[in-house]
Amino acid sequence: MKQKNKLKMTQVVTLKQTENAFVPAKEISDPKKFAGRGEYVRDAYLALMSEGGNIAIVGNRGIGKSSLARQIIKISQGDNELLSKLNIHHDEKLDYLSVYLACGNSIQNTEQLMERLLTTRACLAEWIYEIPSASKEISKLTGGANIGVAKIGGDDTDESTKNAALQKHSIESVFINVLYDLQKSSVAKNGILIVIDEFDQIVDPTGFASLLKSCATNLPYLKFCIIGVAQDIHNLMKEHQSADRLFAGSVINLPSMNDDELEEIINNAELSINNLISFNDDAKRRIITLANGHPYIVHLIGKQAFRSAYFEGRYEELNEDYVDEVLKSIAEKEADPVLEGRYKKAVASSRSRETVLKVLSSNVRTDGEIYTTDAYKLAIEQDVDNPSQYVGHLVTEEYGAELVKLRDKHYRFKDSLFQTYVRARPILFTQPNPASE
Ligand SMILES: Nc1ncnc2c1ncn2[C@@H]1O[C@H](COP(=O)(O)OP(=O)(O)OP(=O)(O)O)[C@@H](O)[C@H]1O
Ligand SMILES: [Mg+2]
Repeated sequence: MKQKNKLKMTQVVTLKQTENAFVPAKEISDPKKFAGRGEYVRDAYLALMSEGGNIAIVGNRGIGKSSLARQIIKISQGDNELLSKLNIHHDEKLDYLSVYLACGNSIQNTEQLMERLLTTRACLAEWIYEIPSASKEISKLTGGANIGVAKIGGDDTDESTKNAALQKHSIESVFINVLYDLQKSSVAKNGILIVIDEFDQIVDPTGFASLLKSCATNLPYLKFCIIGVAQDIHNLMKEHQSADRLFAGSVINLPSMNDDELEEIINNAELSINNLISFNDDAKRRIITLANGHPYIVHLIGKQAFRSAYFEGRYEELNEDYVDEVLKSIAEKEADPVLEGRYKKAVASSRSRETVLKVLSSNVRTDGEIYTTDAYKLAIEQDVDNPSQYVGHLVTEEYGAELVKLRDKHYRFKDSLFQTYVRARPILFTQPNPASE
């Protein structure tokens, strides 16, 4: 596009639009900006249509679980825009009462989870107060729920154990009764959908499977959708029995995004600012390679690139070198303080450990495993003496335990998002090894 035309566009493209073309810190709510994932959206839609059974979304950190959950909620409320965009056949608008709860790090166990769902305004509380029988049921818990939860895990005396058991029982029965009343009041034609995100953060989810069982019997129009970082549903529920039947084939194991899907994210962002700023093909390819299937990394790089290009008034297409400049500034400015903090903790003050960490991150096989015999050779070529000692460090808590030993000579990164960050991040120690190492 001609420079002049682009300059004219700055008048219509605002800074706010540019800032929000990429959103690393936010899941995607707008179906127009939701890239790819057709197969999984279809599976979720079918799971919403089928009677009985719950839904689960599992996958790596930053892979797009919460974004898919947002889309499931939209579809459950009758918004079929994404289905149409993805050419997924649909012949009705669903009508669920859908509520969303992100567990964060404040929910310790199943009782606290039920309590939170019942008492949070954005969850069920708002609806409960409109239904007298449900409000009455809740009043049984007034004061009690908090006291009970406080006692669970408190003094381990007989009395408090008894109280805890009682509270556990009463919270569960109140939960079921309230949902029964809600369901009976026909607030929504298709039923109630309770989406619980970050389920993996619940320290002790014991009892959740049994809650699901009771709900399946007593509440045929209630569906749970639980989401979290895990390899499979057993791992997410920390429970090894009966999870399969409760989820009846509706476990979505969200994989990495493919290159086309990642490119779509970039294209959507460019389009959202009328291509005022854009990347050339090489730059796009570079971002896609760096992202290694993680949409989060595309958003992280894209946001920094658009931000700096906007302020620098760069309206020619951004190239590969620009992407590399942006990577440096992401590290320097700690654009993701958590990932950067983990990087610095793993590397600490050792250039050699950084070299080993980098080599490992670039030698992950398709099954996610690292074979150290190969990696050691490469590290030694880069002047690291005794690389195995640094691998040993990276398994320990002191250096963040980012590496997990699988068996002799086989390791993997605990988190593929961190591995991707390590691979993409420019080197911290650009000077030769200090004599002390
Ligand atoms: N389908 C998609 N299209 C475009 N961007 C996406 C898509 N899915 C996820 N993203 C983006 O990728 C990033 C991570 O997405 P999201 O928060 O949904 O992942 P997550 O798996 O829930 O992460 P976490 O494990 O941290 O909870 C966000 O910036 C989000 O906007
Ligand atoms: Mg999430």
